[in-house]
Amino acid sequence: MIVPVRYQIAGRSAAEIAASVEEGLRSGALEPGQLLPPVRALAQALGVAPATVAAAYRSLRERGVVETAGRKGTRIRPAPPVATRIARPVVAPPGTIDLSTGEPDRRLLPALGPFLRRLAAEAAEPLGYGYGPLPELVDAATQRFAADGVPVGDDAAISVTSGALDAIERLLASRLRMGDRVGIEDPCWANVIDLVAALGLHAVPIPVDDEGPTVDGLRRALAAGVSAVVVTSRAHNPTGAAVSAERAARLRRVLAGAPDVLVIEDDHAAELAEVPLSTLAAPGRPWAFVRSLSKPYGPDLRIAVVAGDEATIARLEGRQLLGSRWVSTLLQRLAVYLWHDDRVAATVDRARAEYGRRRAALVSALAERGVAARGHTGINVWVSVEDEAGAVAALRDLGYAVAPGSLFRLHAPPGLRISIGGLDLSDVNRVADAVATAVAAPPGRATV
Ligand SMILES: Cc1ncc(COP(=O)(O)O)c(C=O)c1O
Repeated sequence: MIVPVRYQIAGRSAAEIAASVEEGLRSGALEPGQLLPPVRALAQALGVAPATVAAAYRSLRERGVVETAGRKGTRIRPAPPVATRIARPVVAPPGTIDLSTGEPDRRLLPALGPFLRRLAAEAAEPLGYGYGPLPELVDAATQRFAADGVPVGDDAAISVTSGALDAIERLLASRLRMGDRVGIEDPCWANVIDLVAALGLHAVPIPVDDEGPTVDGLRRALAAGVSAVVVTSRAHNPTGAAVSAERAARLRRVLAGAPDVLVIEDDHAAELAEVPLSTLAAPGRPWAFVRSLSKPYGPDLRIAVVAGDEATIARLEGRQLLGSRWVSTLLQRLAVYLWHDDRVAATVDRARAEYGRRRAALVSALAERGVAARGHTGINVWVSVEDEAGAVAALRDLGYAVAPGSLFRLHAPPGLRISIGGLDLSDVNRVADAVATAVAAPPGRATV
C-alpha cells in the first residue's frame, strides 16, 4: 500500500524543495514507498510555479531518491540513497518467522574463530598505505575461476572489492554516464535496481526464466542501446534461475554482435551453487565476472573477487583508488585462509546440500497445494501472486514475513520472494499451508 505523505515539504526553489524531501527522509518523517504530493498541488501549497516543483522532483529522480510511475505519481523509492536517522522499521514483527531477508543461514556459515587467531599471529604488524589485491588471494581466485571456465588467461586481470554490489557500482560508474542505459534482469536483486536508479542510469528490463535471461530479452535490450548488462550466473535473486550451458552459448552469440557492451556477471552463490557455472565472459570484449564471498562464507567479510579484461579491471581499480582505495589486507588474508581450509570447504558443502533440501521441500510442498513456485538454485523461492501486498499482509497475519515482489521487478508479473535462509525443514509444511492460504485470498482482501 502506498502511504500518502504527511510531512510538510518546504522551499521556494527547486534545490530547497529537493533538500526538504531529503531532510524528511533523514529525519524519518518520510519513508520509502510514500507518495509525494502531485506537482501542481505542491506548487500551489508552496506558492511557486509548477515547473519549480517538477525540477525538484526531476533532480530527486536523477539521483534515485524518488520514482515517477505515470499517473500513479511520484513516490520515494524503496531504497533511496539517503540514510535515515531513525532505525528502519522491522520487516518481521516479533513472533513472526522471517523469510524476507535473503540472508544466508548464519548456522550454516563457517566459524571464523580459528582464522581470526591465525590472523592475529600472522598479521600483527600495523601496515600503512599502498596495498591492493593480495597475490595469494589473486592466485586462489585465478585457480577457482579457471576451474569454472572463466577466461582468466594472459589478457585478463583480477581484483578485490568490498562485496558484489561495490564491484557492480564501480564497474557501472567507471564506464557509464548519467542517462545511459543498462540491461538488468526482470525481476532481479533489488539492490541492482536501486543502484541503477541512484547512478541516474536507465534500467532496461530483460526477462528471466529458469535458464537465465531470455535471448529475446537480451536482443531487445541491446537494440534499446544499453551500454552494459548485469546478469546473475546462478542462484538468481529472487527466482533461483541459473544460466544453463545452452542459454549461455546463445547469449554469447547475441553479445558478440555488441562488442562494446560491458557484460557484468554476478556469481554470488559461488560455491553454494548446485549447478555448474556457464559464463558469458569472452576475451575481446569488456567483461567482468564478480564472485562474492558473502553467501558461502559470511556477508560481514565484505569481499568479492572480480575477474575481467585488463582495461575494465584497471578502471575498476582506478575508481576504487579514489574511494575506499583497497580492501583491507586483513580481510583478504581471511578470505585466503577460508578458501584453503578443508573443514571450511566441508561446511560450505553441507550448506549447499541443506539449502537444496529446503528449497526442494518448499517447492514440492507448494506444488502439492496447487501453488506453482520457482526455485531452481540458491536461497530464494519465487511464487507468482496476483495481489502482492495482500498476500504479504495475509502471510504476516499467519506469522511469516516474506518480501513483496515489487522490490525486485520492473515489468515482470507480481510475486512473493520467500527466502529459505531462515526456514527450518520442519516448518516447510506449515509455511506451504500459509502461502497456499495467502495466495488463494481474493485480491484486495488481505485478511484471512
Ligand atoms: C544477486 C546477488 N548478488 C550479490 C549479492 C551479495 O552482495 P554482496 O557481495 O555485496 O554482499 C546478493 C546478496 O543477496 C545477491 O542477491
